[in-house]
This record gives sequence, C-alpha cells and structure tokens, in this order.
Amino acid sequence: MLRNAFTNPPRLPLIAPSILSADFGRLEEDCRGVLEGGADLLHIDVMDGHFVPNLTMGPAIVSSLRRALPKAFLDVHVMVTDPQQYVRPFADAGANHLTFHIEPALDRRAGAGLSPLSQGYDPVRLAEEVRKSGMTAGLALNPGTPASTVLDVVAEFDLVLVMSVNPGFSGQAFIPEVLHKTRAIRARLRPNQRLQMDGGIGPDNAPAVREAGCDVLVAASAVFGVPAAERASVILEIRS
Ligand code: DX5
Ligand code: ZN
Repeated sequence: MLRNAFTNPPRLPLIAPSILSADFGRLEEDCRGVLEGGADLLHIDVMDGHFVPNLTMGPAIVSSLRRALPKAFLDVHVMVTDPQQYVRPFADAGANHLTFHIEPALDRRAGAGLSPLSQGYDPVRLAEEVRKSGMTAGLALNPGTPASTVLDVVAEFDLVLVMSVNPGFSGQAFIPEVLHKTRAIRARLRPNQRLQMDGGIGPDNAPAVREAGCDVLVAASAVFGVPAAERASVILEIRS
C-alpha cells in the first residue's frame, strides 16, 4: 500500500506542486516531470464556482492521474461549499488525502447560508467520514479567517492548511500577515500533524513560511510557470 506522505513523511518539508498551473493538455508529462524532479506529492485544486469564483477539476482528473501515476500521493484541496458530497467520489477516484474548508461550516452556523442547495456539515464528523473512506483529512482556512475558528478542532485532523492567498486562482501575491496565524496553530499541533501553506509561495518566501512552522509547501505558478527543464531546481530552492 502507498505510504501516506502526511502521516509518514519521507522528509520535511514536503514540496507539493499544485497542478492548477500545469498544462492540462500534457498533464501526465507535467506531473511525472515534477515527481521525478523531487516533488513529494501532487496538490489538486478543486473549485466549484460557488465557494470561489472559478471552476477547475473534479474526480475524473484524479482517477486519470491515479491510473497514469499509481505511486503518486494525491492531495486533493476542495474549495467547494458542500465538501460532504464529494468525499466518496474522490476516495473512489484514488485520492490519498482530502482537505476541505472551515468557512462554509462557519457561515452556516452563523445562519448566512451560502447556497440554497447546501446541506451543512460538522467539520469533525466530516473528517471522520474522510478517514473511513481511506483518506487522511485536512482543514483549510482562508487568509481572513482567524486561527481561533479552528483551534478547538485541529486535533481531529491530519493536516491544517493555511491559505496565503484568497483561493480561486494561481499566480496571486503572497499575503505575509498569515504567518502570525500559523504560529498559533503550530503550537496546538502534535509532531505527526502537518501544517500546509498554499498560495504565492516561491524560493524567495519559502524560508519565512518554513520559519513560521509550515512543513508542507504548495506552489503552482513558481513550479509550472518555468520551463520543464528548470522545475527540479525550483523545487530544490523551495525546499532549502
Ligand atoms: C489557490 C489554490 C492554490 C494556488 C497556488 O486558489 O488553492 O493551490 O493555485 O497557486 P500559486 O502557487 O501560483 O499561488
Ligand atoms: Zn490548493
């Protein structure tokens, strides 16, 4: 069975290229290239056009990647208002890990309601469901969401993802203010729990991200925005 990169990491930090900036016409080649170039896993950004103003990919892409790259660790980040609807489809497609956001759950608790079709979910119960379906579970928070909204529940997750851009698009500028939050969250995590950061990360700011306690660094445009022959050296620069 594939070793779980988050609960049983081969080394730290883990470097996770986000395929959002890959060439979808050459997806297998791009993914194989970064894995051979030293990336630890693939980060897959799923957007529903409701939680964020963009549409990207779904379980079909994950199952194609699973077939093409049987040994790749597939980290799915869902930016959707109803993650509970997609646990089973992503597990069946071959995802190894699923991260969902806290915000739709908070909005619903506050009575705001994001969509008339929304069912609502409890983050801790949803994490249990994710694990029962054979994946590890992550909880994400947006730059504007305070750390206090997740501190009581982080113990129930394998990974916490602090967004360093407002989700929706790759290629945005890093928001340095989020680094304060990661320190507060790191203080609550056990050594075997991962702290991931996603958005605007590249060789220049990777040391600050590491220093703030993050051990999984996601990068889309910094990795896939350079020619294929240069990606291994960018991955190495982000790592060190
Ligand atoms: C944000 C996504 C990120 C993002 C990263 O909407 O969750 O994974 O695409 O892109 P870069 O690294 O280009 O900021
Ligand atoms: Zn992401």
